[in-house]
Amino acid sequence: MIELKNISRAFQGQAILENLDLTINTGESMVIIGRSGCGKSVTLKHIMGLLHPDKGKVLIDGRDITSLNEKDLNKMRMNFGMLFQGAALFDSLSVLENVGFQLFEYTDMSLEDIKKRVAECLGRVGLKGVENKKPAQLSGGMKKRVGLARAICMFPKVILFDEPTTGVDPIMGDVIDELIRHLHETLKITSVTVTHDMKSAYKIADRIAMLYDKKIVAIGTPDEIKNSDNPIVKQFVTGSAEGPITDNDENGELRSKDNSSHSHIKNLKIEL
Ligand SMILES: Nc1ncnc2c1ncn2[C@@H]1O[C@H](COP(=O)(O)OP(=O)(O)O)[C@@H](O)[C@H]1O
Ligand SMILES: [Mg+2]
Repeated sequence: MIELKNISRAFQGQAILENLDLTINTGESMVIIGRSGCGKSVTLKHIMGLLHPDKGKVLIDGRDITSLNEKDLNKMRMNFGMLFQGAALFDSLSVLENVGFQLFEYTDMSLEDIKKRVAECLGRVGLKGVENKKPAQLSGGMKKRVGLARAICMFPKVILFDEPTTGVDPIMGDVIDELIRHLHETLKITSVTVTHDMKSAYKIADRIAMLYDKKIVAIGTPDEIKNSDNPIVKQFVTGSAEGPITDNDENGELRSKDNSSHSHIKNLKIEL
């Protein structure tokens, strides 16, 4: 359903992805793991056509989206639900308007029908009667769940989750993981989740792909990844300081910190 073929992408002359290949099958839950700053969000944005590769192809249902114009891209994106890193709700809008955002924008559904659909989506994520609240009145975990409800509102064929459990406490993290797995199974959709949290990855994934040094270095079922002989995978899944991955690694934390002061502005731009 989703194929990244030999993707390369650089920013300001610095390669972030290089000859990356990844195939995601229809109906599967794929989790992409990797360190902060290694290019996970960049990979997701290529799948949505929010970023274009310098080289390579992105095929969705066999169609190369890298050459689509904005109008066709928007049409394609209707099939996608996305939970952005940090939920990215519109602060000035109510929960009803946030969850039903695309229904208000892109469909001619009546207000009554939108309210019904929003209530149904909120029900699926375990929230009821919060339609008139503003994001500021919600806890972190509730915001994530509102973001989840928004992601499923347009009956997407694919959902993309960017760090769904980052910034919530471990119990809420577990609730969100359960919800993602449950939504995946009941709605029978293809899902791609990006995370650096192995507990989440094991819980959510049919298959796990590890992004390292600009490409996918390992892919397999949670058991295969857990028992991998690859020293890079081993070090990452056990969260060990000892091993081939070092802090000077150009794919590591250091580079991501360099840019961190701008990251919220980037996210905002994407959201708008
Ligand atoms: N729009 C952009 N312009 C310039 N650099 C970017 C842009 N988006 C991401 N990057 C850089 O690409 C690298 C990978 O980022 P990202 O995919 O966000 O990492 P993560 O794996 O943590 O999601 C980082 O060094 C980041 O600063
Ligand atoms: Mg990211």
